[in-house]
Amino acid sequence: MGELHVIDHPLVQHKLTIIRNKDVGTQQFRQVVNEIATLMAYEVTRDMPTEDTVVETPIAKTTKKTLAGKKVAIVPILRAGLGMVDGFLELIPAAKVGHIGMYRDHKTLKPIEYFVKMPSDIDQRELFVVDPMLATGGSAIMAIDALKKRGAKQIKFVGLVAAPEGVKALQEAHPDVDIYIAGLDDRLNEDGYIIPGLGDAGDRLFGTK
Ligand code: PRP
Ligand code: URA
Repeated sequence: MGELHVIDHPLVQHKLTIIRNKDVGTQQFRQVVNEIATLMAYEVTRDMPTEDTVVETPIAKTTKKTLAGKKVAIVPILRAGLGMVDGFLELIPAAKVGHIGMYRDHKTLKPIEYFVKMPSDIDQRELFVVDPMLATGGSAIMAIDALKKRGAKQIKFVGLVAAPEGVKALQEAHPDVDIYIAGLDDRLNEDGYIIPGLGDAGDRLFGTK
């Protein structure tokens, strides 16, 4: 079963509460989503492998740790996942970025895939699938299906707000994928929105609607 990590760091919680406020506008929403993404990138890379390397300080030669050079890629689910990419790249500037376009049909709530463009070597990379919202879980499940079909082996899902229904569905569909979120909310409403949530993440990020 994929582990669920709720990042309870005070800075993350504070910033998440800021963007829940319906009166926060596009510019601030976008900025704070990226700030939270950077803080979450710090947490989700905690188990990155390191290796010994020799370094010469002004005083002495010593053996210390550096990253073992594992390849990673950030995979935003369009549109709203785009809001987390720059925040991740702040900490992992050399990462490749793959895109998966997906939208939910408003009546059925089923995701519809419309675009996939991945780095050619995703089978050799650790992938961070980013999307602020995990509601029914349908979009994340289908996005990860698409990645596995293309050879992906190591995947983490990173979101901001999740409904328990979405966490359960994703854990059942992809038990090998760990889930990192900033807030676990109460439930979904009849329109598939997370309660209390933060509304439509794509619309709030891009000023549509
Ligand atoms: C939102 C969100 C997720 C999805 C979550 O995207 O960004 O991708 O809904 O819902 P689910 O867990 O029930 O699948 P949306 O379909 O609104 O597309 P958009 O980002 O392009 O607006
Ligand atoms: N997608 C969103 O953007 N918000 C929700 O609450 C649910 C799905």
